[in-house]
Amino acid sequence: MTITFTASNQQDVWENRYQGGKTGWDRGQSSPALGHWFPSMCPPPARVLVPACGYGHEVLTLSEQGYSVTAIEFAPSAVATLNAKLREKELRADVIQADLLTWEPTGEFDIIYEQTALCALEPALWHNYADRLHRWLAAEGILLGLFLQTDRDGGPPWHCAIETLKEIFPTTRWHWPQQQDRKIAHPSGFSELALALKRQNSAK
Ligand SMILES: C[S@@+](CC[C@H](N)C(=O)[O-])C[C@H]1O[C@@H](n2cnc3c(N)ncnc32)[C@H](O)[C@@H]1O
Repeated sequence: MTITFTASNQQDVWENRYQGGKTGWDRGQSSPALGHWFPSMCPPPARVLVPACGYGHEVLTLSEQGYSVTAIEFAPSAVATLNAKLREKELRADVIQADLLTWEPTGEFDIIYEQTALCALEPALWHNYADRLHRWLAAEGILLGLFLQTDRDGGPPWHCAIETLKEIFPTTRWHWPQQQDRKIAHPSGFSELALALKRQNSAK
């Protein structure tokens, strides 16, 4: 199912990357991070949101496992490709063509799987986006984050320094894991910092 919400000027930029085959971030398969997290995730049919899903390999895997998956992406080509794969594999997920910065869900999610969405957004938008992630999760929901580490200025992709992550995901709202240095290799040649943050129960 595809629902069209809004466009933004960035939408064309990303769509052109898909149309031009300039998708250096795409693994062509589900990330090993997801397999690592599966044993600790609440079981299917928990509600999982995948923001900025791209071609959505993880959407397919989550759906295959029986999760109730909603995916957001504003590039039409990526949405169309993912919907075609879902049909081909006879899997189900709600793929919504929308801008993450204007879309609002009708319900809450138990898990958000955030794979290199933050690094695609201008840093000036990060507080807004982090507030949204917080609002979209149920109490004690889990944010599974893969935050790109480029260690350079400029973007996209923007460097997601852990100090900045601590500002936008403060401990008043999020419970941080003890291990904060687990890195996953990324197809771009950079790495992703893998963090599972738990939404604080009483947090507003
Ligand atoms: C680096 S790619 C990551 C795609 C996917 N998560 C993956 O790991 O393969 C960033 C994605 O974010 C999408 N995107 C960027 N800004 C967005 C926004 N404001 N709303 C929805 N999607 C957005 C782009 O179209 C692109 O698919």
